[in-house]
Amino acid sequence: MQPVQITGTYPLNAWYAVGTDVEIGRHLLARTVCDIPMVLYRRFDRVPVALEDACWHRLLPLSAGKLRGDELECGYHGLVYNPQGQCTHAPGQDKVPSKACVRAFPVVERYRLVWVWPGDPEKADPALLPDLHWADDEEWAGEHSLIEMACDYRLVLDNLMDLSHETFVHTTSLGQQAVVESPFTVTHEGARVKLERWMIDVDGPPWLDMQLKLARGLAKTPKIDRWQIIHFEAPSTIVIDVGVAPTGSGARQGDRSKGVTGSVLNTVTPESHGRCHYFFQYSRSFALDDRGLTADMKEAIFRIFMEDKDVLEQQQRSMERMPNRRLVDLATDAGSLWARRAITAMVAAEREGATGGPDGAPAIQRAAANV
Ligand code: FES
Ligand SMILES: [Fe+2]
Repeated sequence: MQPVQITGTYPLNAWYAVGTDVEIGRHLLARTVCDIPMVLYRRFDRVPVALEDACWHRLLPLSAGKLRGDELECGYHGLVYNPQGQCTHAPGQDKVPSKACVRAFPVVERYRLVWVWPGDPEKADPALLPDLHWADDEEWAGEHSLIEMACDYRLVLDNLMDLSHETFVHTTSLGQQAVVESPFTVTHEGARVKLERWMIDVDGPPWLDMQLKLARGLAKTPKIDRWQIIHFEAPSTIVIDVGVAPTGSGARQGDRSKGVTGSVLNTVTPESHGRCHYFFQYSRSFALDDRGLTADMKEAIFRIFMEDKDVLEQQQRSMERMPNRRLVDLATDAGSLWARRAITAMVAAEREGATGGPDGAPAIQRAAANV
């Protein structure tokens, strides 16, 4: 096994989404995860494969080659690799060199995403996958999207942990003054952070008004109680329980039957310096069979999140122009600060583990215990 390089601002011993289920198929897809170029495809039996995207011989990206059944043929001198990354054929050679191989990464397909583990394969336990079950639960409807972001993955997480930005960035869909003015609570435990905000007896923003009208058959929306309950799980997954219900109908006490609930699924994969892959989905819990509505809502939420892309990429460029300036914090940053602490602890624990940490416990569990 090759040594695990720990060079970045992200843990390597974690599951990261690398593609949606429909993106990865019987073709070669190149995608970089945590500075590691990978090539992805499906075997004939549909099982996904992730190999390092550089041929053992002269480092040509294997994604420039061809699929030969379940194996991958390099597009330069024809070395062939099996799904385990072992070279099985070397044209013009009597014997395949015994060292001829490329890294094969642990892969799991779940929640309609394909996940890879870029770190130590011995630690790749599927039980450590973040929970995004809404994506394939029959009580929910939605579709994943991907936006390639030219910003550090933690800026996307900051953005999701502090939804006060909705008031200023998403003015025509999600924003309203109440978001920035309503109090919130933050709790944290190990690698998880939870932030909860309720807006009571307010007008609903257009995105949620539309859903409440559709779901409940209302001609006009009443004053509403609106909630945002953000669940972060280190290193980079955030699920946001959102919704509205007519004021006083008991949503805050637990009865959401008069309202409408959505689940915003987000997972962000570091790509390389200042770049990340942002996978997201808005899952709704009404009109589940309406595929046209699913497509419309996917398109609408994509446009809304492109507003975030614009802001975050400007922020990244500004930070790079001023590398010595520190970011300062406001009260609304509490959630993102705890999230960043959890990530930092994971990275630190992994560095310790990579150099023979004190107790030999898996890095993620120790990180969780330390936060
Ligand atoms: S670079 Fe791949 S076979 Fe030579
Ligand atoms: Fe946003």
